[in-house]
Amino acid sequence: MKKLLVTKLLGPQALERSRGIRADELERFHSSLLDKAVKKEIVEIGKEATKLSNNSLWRMSIGRSFSEKNGEAERVRGLVTELDGLTKKVLFATLLHRPLEKLGISLFKKEIMCVSDSFDEVLERVLVEHEQKLDDHQDRDMMDVLLAAYGDENAEHKISRNHIKAFFVELFFAGTDTSAQSIQWTMAEIINHPNILKRLREEIDSVVGKTRLIQETDLPKLPYLQAVVKEGLRLHPPLPLFVRTFQEGCKIGGFYVPEKTTLIGNAYVMMRDPSVWEDPEEFKPERFLSSSRSTQEEERREQALKYIPFGSGRRGCPGSSLGYIFVGTAVGMMVQCFDWSIKGDKVQMDEAGGLNLSMAHSLKCTPVPRNRPLLADQ
Ligand code: HEM
Repeated sequence: MKKLLVTKLLGPQALERSRGIRADELERFHSSLLDKAVKKEIVEIGKEATKLSNNSLWRMSIGRSFSEKNGEAERVRGLVTELDGLTKKVLFATLLHRPLEKLGISLFKKEIMCVSDSFDEVLERVLVEHEQKLDDHQDRDMMDVLLAAYGDENAEHKISRNHIKAFFVELFFAGTDTSAQSIQWTMAEIINHPNILKRLREEIDSVVGKTRLIQETDLPKLPYLQAVVKEGLRLHPPLPLFVRTFQEGCKIGGFYVPEKTTLIGNAYVMMRDPSVWEDPEEFKPERFLSSSRSTQEEERREQALKYIPFGSGRRGCPGSSLGYIFVGTAVGMMVQCFDWSIKGDKVQMDEAGGLNLSMAHSLKCTPVPRNRPLLADQ
């Protein structure tokens, strides 16, 4: 299924095919911010960013998003948030107290069943919708591909209906909040560093101009924006810990690690290690600009060891390219089109405790429209 995920949804060709969907959703995000700006309303950046990543992912994988009008979309987003909270609780119980493992599960059994039943209901509906139109539509999305594999008697690996539903739950769980948190943290850093905002804006204005919205094909021509996004992920990786279980015993750094050992890697600590990063606690995007490196190959090799916001190896994140697109275009658009006013001088950057790295005080700010020509196009 991971192979299908990469070829049909997250690989370069699949991403090119779905570019229009993300452009639509970015425009919707822009319109929603513009609407708030006109009404002088405060925006919760994390909430808006969650809508952007969630709607884009649903449309890319099942061909439609859920309706905002009857509260359906809000309910589905709520399920992902509930699942997130629940996973943290269960993981904490399991990590802190191995003997509590069983107890952890039974402690939260009722909540788990409730979220699981709700997801099941939503996804069963989507499955049936797809089965009904399987023969008569050409554009096959991820759900169609999985349904075809489900119905294939001769398939090498048989998959069940539950496999399909679990697959979608994992996909949304892994892709929605991570991207939204990264957008929120990076915008908070930009607001706190007016010099960085200025340089970023100059780059976007000179490459994209002031008469159209930034789009994802601009990203390769915006090295400073890419460096800002990378620096945001270095200081604030949304999934700071990664877990591995050793299939066989081996030696690491002079220590023997027995078979079946569970190892927890800490990407947060590695990406702030003063022995490999200069001024590790500071937000300095220039460190990622290629001009300050000798060769690209050297840069790639060095970063593979110390820069791991998407994990690493075979279990590393398959959605890293999409993650960079979500964060790059969302942050780029917010910088290109709006000034941001906040309460007080600085955004509070405290971290909430827990296994994923979210802001203790969610970023709330008021957008002030900036580009008049863009406004006139709306
Ligand atoms: C900025 C955004 C993102 C960040 C920082 C991020 C980070 C991560 C990390 C750290 C892992 C664990 C890797 C490991 O254990 O080595 C992971 C796994 C995963 N991510 Fe992402 N991710 C992001 C966006 C996405 C997106 C957009 C998708 C696609 C929908 C996605 C799909 C997945 C999946 C399916 C896994 C599980 C892989 C497995 O267990 O084999 N991620 N991600």
